[in-house]
Amino acid sequence: MTEPKTPRIAWGLTGSGHYLRECLELIDRLPDVDIFVTRAAVEVLSMYGIPLKSLRGKHRVYQDHTASSVPVGFLYSGHYHTLIIGPATSNTVAKCVAGISDTLVTNLYAQAGKCRIPSIVFACDTEPAMITEAPDRTVTVYPRPIDLENTRRLKCFPDTLVTESVAALKAAIEQRLACLNTSFS
Ligand SMILES: Cc1cc2nc3c(=O)[nH]c(=O)nc-3n(C[C@H](O)[C@H](O)[C@H](O)COP(=O)(O)O)c2cc1C
Repeated sequence: MTEPKTPRIAWGLTGSGHYLRECLELIDRLPDVDIFVTRAAVEVLSMYGIPLKSLRGKHRVYQDHTASSVPVGFLYSGHYHTLIIGPATSNTVAKCVAGISDTLVTNLYAQAGKCRIPSIVFACDTEPAMITEAPDRTVTVYPRPIDLENTRRLKCFPDTLVTESVAALKAAIEQRLACLNTSFS
């Protein structure tokens, strides 16, 4: 990839159906955003009728093809000013909390931390009971205590802002962009 003229947003998409469409809507309104998808995200996008090709028409999309998460190296080259992970599965949040970086998105989070690049994480598991959109119907899910605990623990990590709603995510992005003198379209 050629170096961008100005640093961009790296957006990590994980395999969550919860608020997936809402996050994609936010992405479409943002300037200069590249998308990094986990292997699960690719499958889940397809189950929700969103082909990866439709994202590629509008954004650079990086997939989880290598064991060492090669695209993460862009963080070290100054290509990105902010990492946003949303929606973040319970799996991704748990790995981030445990310091595990074995997927494209958990690796982005780990390397962003090591580069002191701020991360905004929109966690899926925020309430003991939540109504969510499965591909074919609405369902109620009950995040486990460990899932809620991991979301709570991630809030204490440096350079990390955990948001628990679409409105809070949008506000956090607006605040970050304002610091950088840019805004939503
Ligand atoms: C249709 C579908 C929807 C899913 N939605 C969620 C979700 O909302 N939250 C969640 O934590 N996991 C969800 N999962 C499970 C994750 O995709 C799975 O845990 C996966 O291993 C996560 O990998 P990742 O964190 O690397 O993306 C969903 C799976 C499927 C098939």
